[in-house]
Amino acid sequence: MTKPAASRRLHSTSASLERICGSAASNLESSVVKSMASGAAKTALDEACPALTVQRATEASGHSKQIISKSEQENDMKIVIIGGTGLIGSKTVARLSVKGHDVLAASPSGGVNTFTGEGLDKALAGAEVVIDLANSPSFEDKAVLEFFETAGKNLLAAEKVAGVKHHIALSIVGAERLPRSGYLRAKMAQEKLIRESGIPYTIVHSTQFFEFLGGIAQSATVGDTVTVSSAYFQPIASDDVADVMADVALSQPINGVMEIGGPEPFRMNELVARFLQLANDPRKVIGDPHALYFGTELDDRSLVPGAGARIGSTSFEDWFDHAPPRRSGVAA
Ligand SMILES: NC(=O)c1ccc[n+]([C@@H]2O[C@H](COP(=O)([O-])OP(=O)(O)OC[C@H]3O[C@@H](n4cnc5c(N)ncnc54)[C@H](OP(=O)(O)O)[C@@H]3O)[C@@H](O)[C@H]2O)c1
Repeated sequence: MTKPAASRRLHSTSASLERICGSAASNLESSVVKSMASGAAKTALDEACPALTVQRATEASGHSKQIISKSEQENDMKIVIIGGTGLIGSKTVARLSVKGHDVLAASPSGGVNTFTGEGLDKALAGAEVVIDLANSPSFEDKAVLEFFETAGKNLLAAEKVAGVKHHIALSIVGAERLPRSGYLRAKMAQEKLIRESGIPYTIVHSTQFFEFLGGIAQSATVGDTVTVSSAYFQPIASDDVADVMADVALSQPINGVMEIGGPEPFRMNELVARFLQLANDPRKVIGDPHALYFGTELDDRSLVPGAGARIGSTSFEDWFDHAPPRRSGVAA
């Protein structure tokens, strides 16, 4: 059976990364170093290449809004990645730099702050694409709403002045179904600003990253006990998310939402327990259907992507074996 176009594109991205990663690592490094702190650039490079082992099987079947790739020739766009030093940001920077684009990793540590507006005009000058991968330093309800609203307004206003042609943001599968969560309300406020901005856009709704399992456990820990929801979720590896973000950056805006998720649904309590056990963490995990997940109860549909979602192929076991997880205190 012929693979869908989106799947073919992911495989070709993977193949070109594979060719480039071995031989041109030093080129990539110098290109990335132009736009971000050198330590972070090395991390991004190191992280991009192991990702090549990931099989990028993706099914886009049934999705009404297929993305259309721009010509492979267009490889010199200026792309600004807000939050380019973060987990997904640094991996996305590496993937787009490999392709020869002029990638700017923007973050407060490098003098670009979407919350205060510092450095934005200069960073966005000449940019065609902006990918917003920033996260709020605080997850407290009021603070996180203020962060995404203020940062969103500042960023979109600066993009209008700069004439940006595609704004891309990473949000969360099910955010629209869970208004009791302060964090998810803030993500919906961010999305509303984007929809109303008049700038062509693509919003990617991802499920939870495997890297966030430690954060989920941490946020639900009292003493030595972790009490988490027993609802289904379908987490994804950050490498698979970054593959999609890079692919979307080189595609036309869909002016809508596309969903991505991991290959397999799990009951949250069962996967958190497995993760802690593999990490030799002695905490006991209890599954409770009424346990709150960042302020809201979940049902078995809440965090699971729909039938048309693009599916990353890295399994939990593959991820755990290849990317030793940060165990706790991860605020992603
Ligand atoms: N965690 C999940 O499971 C999950 C699932 C779906 C979607 N998401 C979304 O994915 C996005 C990226 O998450 P992540 O885990 O990759 O984030 P992360 O690793 O926590 O990185 C956050 C980034 O945001 C930057 N940042 C913070 N404040 C900023 C500001 N005022 N202006 C500009 N940049 C700022 C940080 O810069 P510094 O390094 O300088 O501090 C850092 O680069 C978030 O929007 C999140 O909502 C997360």
